Amino acid sequence: MMIKAVIFDLDGVLVTTDELHFAAWKRLAEELNITGFTRADNVRQRGVSRMASLEVVLEKTDKKFNEEEKLALAERKNAMYVKSLESLDKSAVLDGVFDFITYLKQKGIKLAVGSASSNTPMILEKTGLRKYFDAVSCGLDTQKSKPNPEVFLIAADKLGIAPSKCVVIEDSDAGIEAAKAGGMYAVALGEAEHNGKADISVSSVDSLYKVIEMFGK
Ligand code: BG6
Ligand code: MG
Repeated sequence: MMIKAVIFDLDGVLVTTDELHFAAWKRLAEELNITGFTRADNVRQRGVSRMASLEVVLEKTDKKFNEEEKLALAERKNAMYVKSLESLDKSAVLDGVFDFITYLKQKGIKLAVGSASSNTPMILEKTGLRKYFDAVSCGLDTQKSKPNPEVFLIAADKLGIAPSKCVVIEDSDAGIEAAKAGGMYAVALGEAEHNGKADISVSSVDSLYKVIEMFGK
């Protein structure tokens, strides 16, 4: 099973932006006087779209919002989130990531990003990651978000590589499901480590080298 491409999730896999997403949702919750929104809830926001993430916050209140109000709330959160990205630079790239992607490139493996985030292009530029990737597929390209496989299938298509030759690296349950639904290998990293649907689970980027060796044979 010679793999030809690795598709990375962005938030929580390549960069630390998950914490900034959480902080912005927490502030929005506070503005709405919602007190019960916690880090455990934030785990369920991982991988899913901005609107689906908003629903996780709104579960905590009895107040009802119409679609227009929900869109305004999502925009408000995004404005706070984008503001917190102003000073983003390569220090936000997770430990071991630059070395690992350099190693993959040297092996001739194609690299793509597959993320629900519409802020993906900006984050890749600011962190200096963009130049390493052959293709980027993100919230701006898709109609359906993870666990639908669309974002990863678009990435594979942009690379010109069959899904069966792609490995996806994900830290969210929705992302693992999306990778499997797309006919790809799914590697669960960190937070998603205990996801039973993943083909392999690792706790850190350093453990990914042996996974690639294994898939490379
Ligand atoms: C995913 C995050 O990568 O992107 C989610 O894990 C987030 O938490 C989603 O809601 C959408 O991101 P954005 O930046 O377009 O709001
Ligand atoms: Mg993620």
